[in-house]
Amino acid sequence: MKRERVQEQIVKQSWKPGNVLSPLPVVLVSCGGRAEWRPNIITIAWTGSVCSDPPMLSISVRPERYSYKIIETTGEFVVNIPSIRQARITDWCGMVSGGRVDKFSESGLTPVEGLQVGCPIILECPVNIECRVQRTLPLGTHTMFVAEVVAVRVTSSLVDAKGKFRLDKAGLISYGLGHYFALGPIVGHFGYSVRKRKGKKKV
Ligand SMILES: Cc1cc2nc3c(=O)[nH]c(=O)nc-3n(C[C@H](O)[C@H](O)[C@H](O)COP(=O)(O)O)c2cc1C
Repeated sequence: MKRERVQEQIVKQSWKPGNVLSPLPVVLVSCGGRAEWRPNIITIAWTGSVCSDPPMLSISVRPERYSYKIIETTGEFVVNIPSIRQARITDWCGMVSGGRVDKFSESGLTPVEGLQVGCPIILECPVNIECRVQRTLPLGTHTMFVAEVVAVRVTSSLVDAKGKFRLDKAGLISYGLGHYFALGPIVGHFGYSVRKRKGKKKV
């Protein structure tokens, strides 16, 4: 591949080490739902996929969060991926604590029974990932829950005739440096840089 030459001069600043990794997914994690814990929702940006097989992801939660004790004791949670329609609620769920507020009833979000876990999924979110905690890693300010994905549900209207989930139609949001962003258009697909372009003659 021919490299394009950078025309303008790029000047760098050195910053103190910090959490600048951006953009990140921002998710609504639902938990609770058993007798001793009413269902709750916490907004999480420190999340990521960590293993393909078995499918695993992580969330990092501060121990002082109301949700922390719920996830620690039940060993279960659901990662719900919000769309732009739930952007304001996503922020709100990160501003108030389930210790004082019933976030499901106040937000109007609909709890639906999980398939494999005791906590509810959030109906309005296009993607719902049910998780069972495998490891708990205290890291400092946050404790990371590494969890296996035990069920996945997606909103049917976002699945096309070929069975593909239309991420581009889902209106998902991302988060970075204190701002929420809408996703832009598709600019490529996995492996497109090494595939031959259609119509380009062989030489
Ligand atoms: C955009 C955003 C991202 C957040 N990410 C995290 C996170 O990754 N981990 C965490 O512990 N708290 C995070 N928070 C803060 C919690 O969501 C917030 O303290 C929430 O009120 C805790 O709810 P709870 O007490 O009901 O568990 C985030 C908040 C916002 C708005």
